[in-house]
Amino acid sequence: MHIDLTDNRHGRNYLAEYDQAPDDKKYLLVQRWMKEEPLPFFAQLRAERPILVTPQCTLVARHCDVVDLLLMPKIFTVDLYKSKMGVSDDDPGYLMAHDDDALHYREKSLMQGFLNREDLPAVRQLVKSLCQQVIKQQHGRLDAVNQYCRYVPARLVQDYFGLDGGSVDDLLRWSLWNQYDAFHNQPFDLNPPELHHKIISEHNKASAELGKYIARLLVRKSIAISVDKLKNQYFNLLYYPRLLWEYIRRGKPELVRDDMTTRILKSCFDDEVQFGFARKGVNIGGLLIGTIETTAQAVAQTLQFFLERPALLQELQSAAQLEDTYAFDAMVWEALRFVPIAPYVFRQASVTSTVAKGTFYETEISAGTQVLLLTQSAMFDSYSHDNPDEFLADRNWYHHFNFGFGAHECLGKYVGMVMIPEMVKQLMKQPALRAEAPIDYRNGPFPEHYPLRWNAGS
Ligand code: HEM
Repeated sequence: MHIDLTDNRHGRNYLAEYDQAPDDKKYLLVQRWMKEEPLPFFAQLRAERPILVTPQCTLVARHCDVVDLLLMPKIFTVDLYKSKMGVSDDDPGYLMAHDDDALHYREKSLMQGFLNREDLPAVRQLVKSLCQQVIKQQHGRLDAVNQYCRYVPARLVQDYFGLDGGSVDDLLRWSLWNQYDAFHNQPFDLNPPELHHKIISEHNKASAELGKYIARLLVRKSIAISVDKLKNQYFNLLYYPRLLWEYIRRGKPELVRDDMTTRILKSCFDDEVQFGFARKGVNIGGLLIGTIETTAQAVAQTLQFFLERPALLQELQSAAQLEDTYAFDAMVWEALRFVPIAPYVFRQASVTSTVAKGTFYETEISAGTQVLLLTQSAMFDSYSHDNPDEFLADRNWYHHFNFGFGAHECLGKYVGMVMIPEMVKQLMKQPALRAEAPIDYRNGPFPEHYPLRWNAGS
């Protein structure tokens, strides 16, 4: 099925308009097209100027170059994350702001191990029951963004990641300002100074509150773990019957509730591994920040994509009735190719280097240049996709970039891969699901409201 998003509705010659624009307006045009009509704009870039050097930053549009540059993390770095992710002279901050060094290698691998992929069926089940609870309580009408798309991942953060004991509203606020500052308050976002500073100040406030909360959480959970160990030592006789009872009841021989925070705190490492209390805390906080706005935006945009396309909607709703989730999930991922949460990931060049060597668009990228790697454009490149403008579910997953690519590929990818489709699925199962208005992005880059209705009780 051909999707209208890819059509050049205005018959625009983007590059001609770009070339004619004065220097101080050039990037404003690029920014508008990436937001409002990315696919035809990217198609022209891929064909005619696969590397576009603008006064603000350099855009890279072809699949092979996006992949190539993302595989050189020391040259195309995440330095722009450093000030947003707590890196300073005496604090290494978060792993995401590190390129191919000991800290990134060590902490990402440890966290991948904790986020055991064996958990995924249970994670999907948890997401399903959280969605069903919300849907049942809402009686056929909800603001999908706040009551569902943000709420469900926030509950997953509490129940599976173990950041519990606080309010969902706090989790949402901390996550939002962190994400806003890191991903939408960069030089090429061209935010007016007042907004730029407001975002930084809200982020700082949120980080201070989050830091205090994480410290309390770690102390509380560590005490619970220690008390449980003591109890087991002194009431040895009861220990094994209790373990057996828990095994029969839950299929797991555990007495302290398993969640990611508990799992991380219960695991002890030699000092040489350098994963002590403080590093554990930073990484537990990272779980919250990565989860909520990303999932919320992906789910809201996927819902809207289908609700605006009746034929695809019908197909998706039929797939939602199947026990096997494969066909349903494949349609969701194909939709996210058209409406990803961001059209690019960004990097900063650490040295001057020449890219796309030997092609007609070979380009020297100087040290310090900010580079937008157009992952959405890469997902429409005929180099990797048959009939890229068509909606064809079940494409080659390895050419899908909604979770990034390379060294910084998303840590939460596999959780996202079950959470996002399951959230879409539970709403799609509601009879006569419809939107009362389009997604509202009035005050920034994130969806704010999306009013949905369905026929409850039928
Ligand atoms: C489910 C919980 C999630 C967690 C805990 C999480 C966490 C993370 C972390 C820690 C990274 C950095 C990895 C690194 O630097 O090596 C990352 C990268 C990324 N995540 Fe996630 N994430 C989650 C969900 C999502 C979702 C739902 C999306 C989009 C649909 C997403 C998109 C991305 C992208 C595009 C990157 C790459 C950024 C870059 O290359 O600069 N994430 N995520």
